[in-house]
Amino acid sequence: MIKAITGTNDILSEDSFRWRELEKLVNGIMSFYNYKEIRTPIFEETSLFSRGIGDATDIVSKEMYSFIDRSGVSLTLKPEMTASVARAFIEHSLDKKQSLNKLYYISPMFRQERPQAGRFRQFHQFGAEVLGSQSPLLDAEMIIIAYDIFAKLGLTNLKVKINSLGVTESREIYKAKLKEYLNPHFNNLSEESRKRFDINILRIFDSKDDRDQSIMKDAPLLIEYLDDASLQHFNTVKKVLENSNVPFEVDPKLVRGLDYYCHTTFEIVSGSVGSQSALCGGGRYDGLIEQLGGKPVPGVGFAAGIERLLLACKNENVFEIKEEPLDVYMILLDSELRNDTFKAMLELRRNGLRVDSDYLMRSIKAQMREANKYNSRFTLFIGGDEYKSGDYLLKDMSEGNQFLFKTSDMQGLIKKIRE
Ligand code: HAM
Repeated sequence: MIKAITGTNDILSEDSFRWRELEKLVNGIMSFYNYKEIRTPIFEETSLFSRGIGDATDIVSKEMYSFIDRSGVSLTLKPEMTASVARAFIEHSLDKKQSLNKLYYISPMFRQERPQAGRFRQFHQFGAEVLGSQSPLLDAEMIIIAYDIFAKLGLTNLKVKINSLGVTESREIYKAKLKEYLNPHFNNLSEESRKRFDINILRIFDSKDDRDQSIMKDAPLLIEYLDDASLQHFNTVKKVLENSNVPFEVDPKLVRGLDYYCHTTFEIVSGSVGSQSALCGGGRYDGLIEQLGGKPVPGVGFAAGIERLLLACKNENVFEIKEEPLDVYMILLDSELRNDTFKAMLELRRNGLRVDSDYLMRSIKAQMREANKYNSRFTLFIGGDEYKSGDYLLKDMSEGNQFLFKTSDMQGLIKKIRE
């Protein structure tokens, strides 16, 4: 038997309406904040991600689904959207059309990670990217949008963590200090952290290894090395969050796993989903567009994992949305009237009602069972004495009331169902 690839999920119909509702919520909130949707291809040239995200990152060095296509080009299924949005921004000169581009997306992503609860190989993100401004208001706006969406879902067990990585110059000074601090401990670091020592020293803060953690406990912190302008930027972000009633904590060890960040980085974590607790992550990336060959245009953004969010909702018993019931289930009393039933059903559907009927020649009892299964608000009986006298019999399934409508009076019937 052929099965789905490990780390991928089928979203079956009992779940897909929750996905649709979530997408509706995201579309709605993004439109309140005046963000416009962008859709980019599922695959891109591999070099976009290696240049954009950074060769030394876990995503690029270990997790990308890359392949050589028939013309010999290396392509990669997108592991994240920021680089793709940046590429589209440069390619279509979006800055000429709009001085500030506020964009959002909902899209599948692909990373060859070790699958576990909340971590998949095909997963879905929604997110936003703003290109064209250095305003710290926008750093805060990213956090606020994500927080608003999570709060609208009903999630409460949340923690907003923020940090500042400052600018490249102060970061380089800091990295030298961190190296100095770690040098005497080098042989006690885990193998992974020894590798990171040269290629991506900040990521040692992310290590889950006990020895690494006890060494890093006393390490100097980047936030202590920020230049004045970066500190001021960070202070404004914090002030705006306070004024917006978004509770947060500063986590000076939050370095994030992608190379393009500067200034603000943040994550919102949930206490309801186990070890893969980051529901979203993001930050500022003022150098990315230039690094990918565009003009120096600043950017900031975030992305949230939809599977993790829905898992958090399930675990907190919130966002328990019931699928919309059918408006009408047609009950066929006389099999000769199958075509009449189909015609009437079509007319109701074309008038915007959710309607279904039996296609399997089932008994009246079985048809009634179906009507109940779909939670249908009404049943419409076709056949019997009423139909012979030119009437449909409509039955209200919750109260049991019955109504007769002339078969010629479809509009009257539709009005009643819509009431
Ligand atoms: P990221 O932290 O790599 O950031 O991913 C963002 C979110 O996607 C995570 O917080 C998590 O909820 C979800 N996610 C990531 N990997 C997986 C996975 N394997 N399975 C399930 N969910 C996952 C980015 O992708 C950046 N592009 C965010 C950003 C936008 N920064 C600036 N703009």
